[in-house]
Amino acid sequence: MPDAAIIIRDPSAADEMAWRELWSGYNAFYEASIAEAVTAHTWQRLLDPASPMFGRLAVTNGEVAGFSLCIVHDSSWTIGSYCYLEDLFVAPKLRGRGCGRALIQDLVDRAKANGWSRLYWHTKAGNPARRLYDEFDKADDFVRYRLFFPDVT
Ligand SMILES: CC(C)(COP(=O)(O)OP(=O)(O)OC[C@H]1O[C@@H](n2cnc3c(N)ncnc32)[C@H](O)[C@@H]1OP(=O)(O)O)[C@@H](O)C(=O)NCCC(=O)NCCS
Repeated sequence: MPDAAIIIRDPSAADEMAWRELWSGYNAFYEASIAEAVTAHTWQRLLDPASPMFGRLAVTNGEVAGFSLCIVHDSSWTIGSYCYLEDLFVAPKLRGRGCGRALIQDLVDRAKANGWSRLYWHTKAGNPARRLYDEFDKADDFVRYRLFFPDVT
């Protein structure tokens, strides 16, 4: 039987339960505990066309299999915007069917269509998903510094 087609599309309000289930799996993958208020706010921003944050869903066999979540922002280095891919996740049972690759390719296509000058993301050095990422380009040698301000959610 041929592989099922993968559709990449915008989320709508009806996708909230499916997205939340994936989001919860993604949080578990990173052993992160995201407050409900943050999850609710993130979902609202994904539905808000005025927000610089947007999400895309991978759907296969009618099932929401995965998502990408990005922020488009200005850059001092280019006139065109940068697109930061902050989160990428495919349900474990639906991995290895091309959804991850299709979600990234969708962002490459959107970058070209929208005139963004960069698409970038971070990952842990040992993430096996780098096999997939290396298909798009090689990683650079930057490291990340993060300061936390725990009084702000
Ligand atoms: C990364 C992730 C989104 C990839 O989704 P996916 O739908 O399985 O990816 P694809 O099916 O498009 O994989 C494309 C290729 O990369 C390889 N690959 C992707 N993720 C892999 C992983 N975790 N381990 C090993 N190989 C992986 C696949 O084997 C496949 O190669 P092939 O086509 O030669 O068989 C998914 O593994 C995932 O959600 N991982 C947990 C969360 C995560 O790491 N998110 C990214 C954080 S930066």
